Amino acid sequence: MKFFIDTANLEEIKTAMSWGCVAGVTTNPTLYARTGGKLADFENHMVHIAELCEGLPVSAESTAKTVDEMIEEGKRLAALAPNIVVKLPICAESLAATKVLKQEGVDVNMTLIFSIPQALMAASAGARYVSPFVGRFDDIAEDGVEQLAGIIEAIKTYYTPDQTEIIAASLRTPNHVAQAALLGSDIATVPYAALEKCLHHPLTDRGLEAFELDWKKVQEA
Ligand code: E4P
Repeated sequence: MKFFIDTANLEEIKTAMSWGCVAGVTTNPTLYARTGGKLADFENHMVHIAELCEGLPVSAESTAKTVDEMIEEGKRLAALAPNIVVKLPICAESLAATKVLKQEGVDVNMTLIFSIPQALMAASAGARYVSPFVGRFDDIAEDGVEQLAGIIEAIKTYYTPDQTEIIAASLRTPNHVAQAALLGSDIATVPYAALEKCLHHPLTDRGLEAFELDWKKVQEA
């Protein structure tokens, strides 16, 4: 399973990229707003992220409402850098736009996926990535991991990863990441704080402390 980082924060992206295990970035308007960015700077910001990622896929979300606007904005975003993927929330208009964008060679990440039919419709329209959400199910006291399992099984039944890859999204905890991996998700997109938590385990931290102490003893001997 590949790790993407789910943020628009340049420092977080730089740090996570330096770890060597991050294979892409996903952003959304909320994540961009959290950086303090203004609408007028949005495209420049996406260019900076795309440069930091050196060819790895970077999802930039369109806020267009009609099919024509989605196609126009999608083409403009994709032209910013070769590694930009256009992120569209699933709806009738975005499915139609995805079909056209795919024909134009633009990759689409279809987001806000909460059901098997939505995921299959997105893949069928030509979405390069589908993003089922986990945490938002948990927020309404439903089992997001169970929903993810169904979507992965359905997509894997009909599509290969070179057609459509699954990005497990709205992940909040290392356990969400572990479950996405066990279920066979192609990708997990993880916020910086959760990714940082994934680095740690109490036994690793204790082992590192013991290692330091042992080396101190060896040096003093
Ligand atoms: C990623 O593509 C999504 O925008 C993101 O994972 C949503 O996460 P949230 O449910 O924590 O907002």
